[in-house]
Amino acid sequence: MKLKIIHTNDVHSHFGAFKRAASLIKEYKDENTIILDGGDFADFKSIELQGTRGMAAVELLQSVEYDALTIGNNEMFNGFDTLEYMAENSPVPFISNNLYRKDKELISGVKTSVILEKSGLRIFITGASPDLQGFNDGLGVHITDYKNAIRKELERHRGTYDVCILLNHVGTVSDEELANELDEVDIILSAHDHRLFTHGRL
Ligand SMILES: [Fe+2]
Repeated sequence: MKLKIIHTNDVHSHFGAFKRAASLIKEYKDENTIILDGGDFADFKSIELQGTRGMAAVELLQSVEYDALTIGNNEMFNGFDTLEYMAENSPVPFISNNLYRKDKELISGVKTSVILEKSGLRIFITGASPDLQGFNDGLGVHITDYKNAIRKELERHRGTYDVCILLNHVGTVSDEELANELDEVDIILSAHDHRLFTHGRL
């Protein structure tokens, strides 16, 4: 049994760099591969995103057949309406287990987790978004404590999966803490602070 995971994060709408990443993904991808993005793939400094309400970035991920992504802060930076529009229209699932509308209701199109089936395995994927504190209100979102949200989501799905991946956008320092605290998580894919890990840590 073999499972290959290809992961990107913090692409920030760098289309030139993504073109190279897309070529590599297509080269390495096989029938046992899942492709994930840890958030901040969309950056609204890009005019292409402004003109398409973010869908240009989603279409890039779709073109390489991503399986899921976690919502980072940059996916929120054009305001709640754009975020919801992207999540509702994306064929790639938008994940966040701690992100809500300002009125604390669920955001249409956003999933708290997904279970993918690949190589005969049930692969559970969840992730949290960063708290933007003073910006939350103006962006139209409510963000809860990520540790509680992750624990709750793991509890809710305990026993329903074979492999657990935390695809997180709260930064590598927080993820190192979580790695020590959460026994049921098999793999943490980190993002947000652009820290390079040339090798995975065990
Ligand atoms: Fe970020």
